Amino acid sequence: MIVSSTTDFREAARRKLPRFLFDYIDGGAYAERTLQRNVSDLADIALRQRVLKDVSAADLSTTLFGVKQALPVALAPVGLTGMYARRGECQAARAAAKKNVPFCLSTVSVCDVDEVSKASSAPIWFQLYVLRDRAFMRDLLARASAAGATALVFTVDMPVPGARYRDAHSGMSGPNAAARRLVQAAFKPSWAWDVGVMGRPHTLGNVAPVLGANSGLEDFMGWLGANFDPSIQWKDLEWIRELWKGPLIIKGVLDPEDAKAAADIGADGVIVSNHGGRQLDGVLSSARALPAIADAVGDRLTVLADSGVRSGLDVVRMLALGAKGVLLGRAFVYALAARGELGVTQLLDLIEKEMRVAMALTGVRDLASIDRSILAEFKS
Ligand code: GLV
Repeated sequence: MIVSSTTDFREAARRKLPRFLFDYIDGGAYAERTLQRNVSDLADIALRQRVLKDVSAADLSTTLFGVKQALPVALAPVGLTGMYARRGECQAARAAAKKNVPFCLSTVSVCDVDEVSKASSAPIWFQLYVLRDRAFMRDLLARASAAGATALVFTVDMPVPGARYRDAHSGMSGPNAAARRLVQAAFKPSWAWDVGVMGRPHTLGNVAPVLGANSGLEDFMGWLGANFDPSIQWKDLEWIRELWKGPLIIKGVLDPEDAKAAADIGADGVIVSNHGGRQLDGVLSSARALPAIADAVGDRLTVLADSGVRSGLDVVRMLALGAKGVLLGRAFVYALAARGELGVTQLLDLIEKEMRVAMALTGVRDLASIDRSILAEFKS
């Protein structure tokens, strides 16, 4: 298989995965308009082509939260990553470590934080959801810290799960879901053996200790709805801020007022995100929301962004719009599903190569020079 872009990895993932898993990662909320706009708004951003500026060497390294990394990207927290490849979180974390970029482990991962931190030679970031059981959250944070997680990514845009039409049709949820998934798996024998059988146990590793071995996977979206706490408010984050001494990054901010609130509670960073278009369809794309947020809090917080990034060129566009770093979600899971750890390594190599080309042709040699001046037109 020739892989020259995320589109190729996506197609390979589609062929390899049972439908419910492909649709779960690929799909979004309602009519998926925000999901589409995340991609198309980024693609529509025009760059200034500049020439003859000696672009023989480019430095793509950056320092995020005090840690130097090779590229301004991180692998985003994605639930159920371990269903996309055998012990998938460990494979992805190894690829990230090799490339010297952060891997962020989701609360609702298959491999737990200890398994992943043992598998990876580099420290990881840990993502936390607002769970109803606060004692359990405290315990989870302690485990993440003991496992050496260097930053906490606290997701705030999922007080309730979004309405995902594709999931109901594909067997991720809806009537006879378990039987439909089994039939789909039978048609994908290499996945069924490699991940379905050899990749066990399929539990939500981080939450299994309190919620029982099989909790979560049978009715994953139902599980999220039952266990997430919609009563959360900004003042509850003060508690998290006190508990977690390292960098605290608030994920799921799309409005400058919320970004200012994140700075006020003492966060270190925000991730401008609409959860990959998986929550409220109709909200702004990240690319459109980002500049106002960077203007509002860029001097107080490290502003990161995700949602819609499919290439190194998109990474450069997000940086030009004001992000200091970019998270890749779907893109890395497609690569992981297609080729495991090797696929994620190849994806990160591709992203690097594409960034180098984009920087050379916009006439910049380091990340500090990437700002709105490389955009051909800027409409806020
Ligand atoms: C969980 O975070 C999801 O988007 O499904």
